Amino acid sequence: MANVPEKEQEKEAVGRAAAKLVRDGDIVGLGSGSTAYFAVVALGERVKAGLKIVGIPTSVQTAGLARQLGIPLTTLDEHPEIDITIDGADEVDPQLRLIKGGGGALLREKVIAAASKKMVVVADSSKVVPVLGKFPLPVEVISFARTVVEKKIVSLGASPKLRAKPDGSPFITDNSNQILDCSFGKITDPAALALILSDTPGIVEHGLFIGLASIALVGHGDRVEELRP
Ligand code: 5RP
Repeated sequence: MANVPEKEQEKEAVGRAAAKLVRDGDIVGLGSGSTAYFAVVALGERVKAGLKIVGIPTSVQTAGLARQLGIPLTTLDEHPEIDITIDGADEVDPQLRLIKGGGGALLREKVIAAASKKMVVVADSSKVVPVLGKFPLPVEVISFARTVVEKKIVSLGASPKLRAKPDGSPFITDNSNQILDCSFGKITDPAALALILSDTPGIVEHGLFIGLASIALVGHGDRVEELRP
C-alpha cells in the first residue's frame, strides 16, 4: 500500500489526468471524495482558463467546492444525459466493478454514473484489489427500515455497522438516510449480491457499482495507469 504522501501524489496525478479528458461543451458529473477533489480543482483551473462546461455534483460538499472554483452547475432535470463523470472509488477490481460510498455519497454517485456516457474512475494504487469486499460495503437505508435491513444483511453472512459521526450520532446522507457499513469479506459474486440488495425493501442504494465504469485511472507514484474492463 502506498504511504500517505505518495497516496496524495497519486490522487493528484489521476485527478489531473482525468480532468484533461473533459471537452469543451461537456456536461460533467463531479465526483465526491479526496481523489475526485483533485479532478474538480483541475477542472476549476481549466474553467478559469476558458473551458465551457456545466457540472452536476454528486454531493452537497462537491457542489460547494465547484461553486468556490467558479464551475457552473446544473441539475439532472435540466441535463438528464451526462457526457463524462469523474469519481473516486473505495475498491476497484479487474473488471472495473467498484465499491463506493466511503464518503457517504453513493446514491447520487450511482444515479449520476448511470446517467453518464462515460464514467472515469480515479484511484490511488491502494484501491485496486483482485476481489471486492475488504472495504466494508456501504448500504444506504431509510432509518425506518434499519433493523430489518440489518437482519437481512446478517442472513447474507455479513456484519453491518451503523455509520456514526464523531459524536456518536448516526451519519446522515445528503438524502436524509443512514448508512450500514457491511463487512462481507470476499465478495465472489458482486452481481448476485447487488441484485439481492437492490431487491431488499428499505435499502435505498448500495455501493456495488457494476458495469458503470468505462475506464479507471490508477496512480503509481506520478505515473498514471489506464485500466479498462
Ligand atoms: C464517496 C465515494 C468516494 O469516491 C470514495 O469513498 C473514495 O474516496 P477517496 O477518493 O477519498 O478515497 O464513493 O461516496
